[in-house]
Amino acid sequence: MDTAQPSTVSTRTVTFRIWRQDGPEKEGRYDEFRIPYAKGANVVSCLMEIQRNPVTVDGRKVAPVVWDAACLEEVCGSCAMNINGRVRMACSALIDKLEQPITLEPMKKFTVVRDLTVNRDRMFEALKRVKAWIPVDGTHNLGPGPRQSPHDQSTMYVLSTCITCGSCLEACPQVTLGNDFVGAAAISQARLFNMHPTGKMNSEERVRSLMGPGGVQDCGKAQNCVKVCPKEIPLTTSIAAMNREMTKVLIKDLFFQEEEKKGHAGPG
Ligand code: SF4
Ligand code: FES
Repeated sequence: MDTAQPSTVSTRTVTFRIWRQDGPEKEGRYDEFRIPYAKGANVVSCLMEIQRNPVTVDGRKVAPVVWDAACLEEVCGSCAMNINGRVRMACSALIDKLEQPITLEPMKKFTVVRDLTVNRDRMFEALKRVKAWIPVDGTHNLGPGPRQSPHDQSTMYVLSTCITCGSCLEACPQVTLGNDFVGAAAISQARLFNMHPTGKMNSEERVRSLMGPGGVQDCGKAQNCVKVCPKEIPLTTSIAAMNREMTKVLIKDLFFQEEEKKGHAGPG
């Protein structure tokens, strides 16, 4: 007797509308793809499926879509893109929660390298500008270092989870393709390193790096950054904290200017 069960292969599909652009200066267009539905799929796993057979809904065989991803668990920050018009991480964007057709576009505040891949150099340049590191004078053992309060530790831990994804810049109306506003991520990293017991040594340098064009004053307080950060970093609190540090440095400068006018040479 034939005991075979009738086939239950799903006919559900998922449709994607994906931005295609062959290079930074090239014209862009959309290609539409349809793939079989898979339970629990996310945008990256669907992009992999499309890559296996890059044929559009109208039957054209096209070049495979190019995108960035590495960790697949919201840690590397490389897969940020606009999904249905909102910047988010493609590796954690579940298909079941997205309206179809699912539109994928590269972030607009960064130069497109190809398709969904962008050049995020401006973020790393911003980190250089604010000196988001702690200088060391060697790799020898310096001992346990100063103690930190549990309160500072927990504040700093959250700030340290930034994955340089660029979502906060993408959502910020003050950031444009051509300007040099450092953005919320770098400002928050400056706060992180200024809180560090050793990093405090260079805190004034970091604060000064945020003064002037492209610095903290360019923030328009739209508060979009904090809404899109996948790590829920309190970016607006960081911006306010760095603003306060800047005010202190400005008051100090004014004080020394006054002292100089009175004929004192300053400290020492
Ligand atoms: S602050 Fe948040 S949104 Fe901005 S780069 Fe870091 S993780 Fe991404
Ligand atoms: S692939 Fe690393 S954050 Fe998405």
